Amino acid sequence: MEANQKIIFSGAQPTGSLTIGNYIGAVKNWKALEEEYQCLYSIVDLHSLTIRHNPEEFRKTCLSFLVQYLACGLNPERNILFFQSQVPQHTELAWILNCYSYIGELNRMTQFKEKSERHKDNINTGLFTYPVLQAADILLYQTDVVPVGEDQKQHLELSRDIAIRFNNIYGETFTVPEHHIPKMGAKIMSLQEPEKKMSKSDENPYATIYLMDAEDLILTKLKKAVTDAENRVAYSDNQPGIKNLITIYATISGIEPLEIQEKYDGKGYGAFKKDLAELLIETIRPFKTRYAEYMANMDYVTQIYKSGAERATAMAEKTMKKVKENLGLINLK
Ligand code: AMP
Ligand code: TRP
Repeated sequence: MEANQKIIFSGAQPTGSLTIGNYIGAVKNWKALEEEYQCLYSIVDLHSLTIRHNPEEFRKTCLSFLVQYLACGLNPERNILFFQSQVPQHTELAWILNCYSYIGELNRMTQFKEKSERHKDNINTGLFTYPVLQAADILLYQTDVVPVGEDQKQHLELSRDIAIRFNNIYGETFTVPEHHIPKMGAKIMSLQEPEKKMSKSDENPYATIYLMDAEDLILTKLKKAVTDAENRVAYSDNQPGIKNLITIYATISGIEPLEIQEKYDGKGYGAFKKDLAELLIETIRPFKTRYAEYMANMDYVTQIYKSGAERATAMAEKTMKKVKENLGLINLK
């Protein structure tokens, strides 16, 4: 790591499989930042424990997530790619930060409210303190910037508040992180209910496109995507379904939404959806090839996460020393 290089941290929960929402809102930007910053990209497996998993399946999903990161082009040499659970300092710091966050502020987290509404049978304590573990993920590395989608803004603000609070009591301990939320594509919507975020865990199979979806399935999902009766490819709030599809097109192609609107003037939804399917399929094809290559080379993948955990641990340990010192805990010499 170069001296004074700024630090980036981000992560995704290994449940299901990466969606084009995850890609556009997060992973695509992770890739764009990898040259300029020292980036740590984690598979936040401990966060996923707030829901129940079959252990065999979960192990596969976790590895598949790392391989999906690699498939999206994240450079395993430049970036530190690792499993959160392999760096125990995350949970160590989370405990400490629990003592510097308030029940009132955690109660206000919209994700907690939504998830406890959806999983009434399993409102576990982990779900409640989830944002504190997230703050620990970030603060542990003296992170400057956190690239995420729109839905994580509130969690990021809490991480900042905790860092400022701690620094005010004990002196400069943590870097106060900034979020990095893309101007366009920070919230890709469901293809079936365009007023709702596209999610990994949507029950409707046509709501979400996964990076690993088969090519013909991508076309089918787009054909079935909810639009409206206007039959006009317009980037307008009155047409949320088509607006979402234009956003996907624009972020993937780099073409401005209004240019796309002009291009499809008078052409109707069918042609637009077909072209969008083609664009997505072409974009994702090299990911799938890389995915298969890495899957066939698990020894290399193992090396990547081992080395990731070692590099992350070395950085994490520096922060933990400082935290313990500042708190008055006795460090082992
Ligand atoms: P998650 O799927 O909740 O683990 O999210 C991983 C990353 O993807 C986070 O930075 C999210 O903000 C981002 N993300 C998730 N869903 C979307 C979406 N529909 N649109 C844009 N970004 C998203
Ligand atoms: N809560 C994030 C999500 O659901 C995942 C996450 C955990 C994360 N720790 C993080 C994102 C730290 C950014 C930084 O998307």
